[in-house]
Amino acid sequence: MARYLGKETTRVDGLAKVTGKAKYTAEFQIPNVAYGFIALSTVAKGRITAIDTRAAEQAGGVIRVFTHLNAGKLGPAPAAGAAPAWSWPLQSDRVFFNGQPIALVVAESYEQARYAARLVKATYETEPHNTDFSAVLARAQPDPATAQGAPRGNPVAAMQAAAVKIEAEYRIPIHHHNPIEPHAAIAFWQGDQLTIFDKTQEVFGVQKHLAESLGVPAENIRVVSPFVGGAFGASLKPNYYPSLTAMAARELKRPVKVVYTRTQMFTGHGYRPYTIQKIALGADRSGKLSSMIHEAFHNTSSFEAFSDSTTGFTRQVYACPHLHAPLKVAATDLATPTWMRAPGAVSGMFALECAMDELSYALKIDPMELRLVNYAETDPESGKPFSSKALRECYRLGAEKFGWKNRKAEPRSMRDGRLLVGWGMASSVWGAFQQPASARVTFRADGTAGVTSATSDIGPGTYTVMTMIAAEFLGLRLDQVHFELGDTRQPKAPAQGGSWTTSSVGSAVRGAALTIVAKLLDLANRDAASPLKDANAAEVEMLDGLLRRKSDPSRAVVIADVMRRTGTHEITETYDSTPSPERAKYASLAHGAQFVEVKVDPDLGTVKVTRVIEVTACGKILNPLASHSQEIGGVVWGIGMALEEATEIDHRYGRIMNANLQHYHVPVNADIHAIETIFVEEDDTIVNPLGVKGMGELGMVGIPAAIANAIFHATGKRVRDLPITPEKLM
Ligand code: MOS
Repeated sequence: MARYLGKETTRVDGLAKVTGKAKYTAEFQIPNVAYGFIALSTVAKGRITAIDTRAAEQAGGVIRVFTHLNAGKLGPAPAAGAAPAWSWPLQSDRVFFNGQPIALVVAESYEQARYAARLVKATYETEPHNTDFSAVLARAQPDPATAQGAPRGNPVAAMQAAAVKIEAEYRIPIHHHNPIEPHAAIAFWQGDQLTIFDKTQEVFGVQKHLAESLGVPAENIRVVSPFVGGAFGASLKPNYYPSLTAMAARELKRPVKVVYTRTQMFTGHGYRPYTIQKIALGADRSGKLSSMIHEAFHNTSSFEAFSDSTTGFTRQVYACPHLHAPLKVAATDLATPTWMRAPGAVSGMFALECAMDELSYALKIDPMELRLVNYAETDPESGKPFSSKALRECYRLGAEKFGWKNRKAEPRSMRDGRLLVGWGMASSVWGAFQQPASARVTFRADGTAGVTSATSDIGPGTYTVMTMIAAEFLGLRLDQVHFELGDTRQPKAPAQGGSWTTSSVGSAVRGAALTIVAKLLDLANRDAASPLKDANAAEVEMLDGLLRRKSDPSRAVVIADVMRRTGTHEITETYDSTPSPERAKYASLAHGAQFVEVKVDPDLGTVKVTRVIEVTACGKILNPLASHSQEIGGVVWGIGMALEEATEIDHRYGRIMNANLQHYHVPVNADIHAIETIFVEEDDTIVNPLGVKGMGELGMVGIPAAIANAIFHATGKRVRDLPITPEKLM
């Protein structure tokens, strides 16, 4: 019986966070630090013909104004005529998007740097730009970096032969991540050694990037990032400011700190791309899908490739013999997109799950029944069995909790006073990913343990769950374990993304702890009188200072005695965890079902999401408290995506118009009503020994579709372009 795993556990770092003891990047105090402020381009495309920095240089406190004319070199020189990479700023006179960095002003204070940055005057030779993805859609090409797979069967012929078919086009605007903590870095050099505090989801990714940028060996670079105030994918790829900050610190031989403004958070990293999807579904009269054609198109930048894998999961969701799910991209004169909150999946499933709803009305079949008719018992793509799949139970339980059977099928048939009531549902899917990861555990004779891995905790509760895993397998209390993360001096871990941290890093922590159990058994059995003489490592466990036989706890040794007797003060083990080859025989996915109630004001077109039941099946839940919090957060982001979020661009200038939290709307407390999240646990011994599939991102997938479907049910209006704002319902 597990003592910690599966039990609600409050955050071990909670107190540090609420008392200010937890230090976020910009809060580190470095003596003699200088402050950098980034100046941005005001045109979308062209060349800087002149940049006048004289007034800025003469402003109070200014130390240096870096532009493409005097900045230190970053990265390899781009080939003639080619664009420098996004992450190497101030390396040429070229402007690729409005809001691109054109100068870094460094001063004695932040205010002085910010003021002087306004005095930098650039003159441009502009070129025609295009920031409107609709206008370049016809130019979209298959993304060479992403193999979307050949068509399955003959989808076109099967579509023509289908008894019932629907066809529709869906649009998702650009979204920005908008974590509360802005990007920040503080860099300082000691000789040829660089230390950089950076807000990041992957310290080793930043280290590698800076080694390439600065031309120094990776081992000379230490990246530190202990706390991250939200990221949502915005810090998965190295952004341009760490190399800029490190370059300035090297040139000035002085620590430099750079922090983005909220406005810079709209051009200083990527965004969810503008996405257009065309879907055709064909079925027989019983609802059985015979053909699915799901084409996705999204923008990238003119200077870098990016693929959101929009249709990646379409191939695995429903049993369907004929299918095509290609993805095409086209360049716009904007910054490069990046991954954001359930990337690809939430976009692809918005379109697919709305289309399934449309098909259900065409067939006059209940929307949930349609999903069950097309339930994939095995992976439709590979034909492999699922390592586990409790989606059917998610549908059943969600429908029961929601009261789905009381739904009247007809749109506009349910009311609450003058408000239109709509009930909608959708399915969700995410991967069950695992990456190679390492962790180090030091177990001390005093019964405490230090655990480290260079992962990140952007909010899901990684500090807590790693502490729980170590405490579980070392038989310690939570307060006897101290877990540290976010430093390239620690064992290597993947980026915190893809909902794979617990499966990846957790497996490494478990592995290191179990290796210590085995070491202690060896030490114990040096004593000829050891009561564990005939036991192997799998047959013993550590608990409350004892190493004991699982089958007979009375056969035990006192760990402190063993360590004293053998002169062992501490045992340190580093464990490298990799996904088990056994996984390849199976398909592994996390699934869910969402049920949503909306109330729509027929006079104003305003929508309230009054009730959400979300049921997910994602393997074993290690910390239900933090996990429910993750899924609730996913629902909230789904509400934002469905009803509020959109980055608006004035295409005449190629400039973002709502680069602030006043005009870029995210859900606030008043937008959020009843949300219940439920887990259907799966006992999956294939995915990894912890049985963890990963969750968090899954919680958002399906929510925008369920809301759009509920709105159709309430109003009879099918809105296919997000966000569903009041004017679209009038
Ligand atoms: Mo998430 S978009 O993998 O940080």
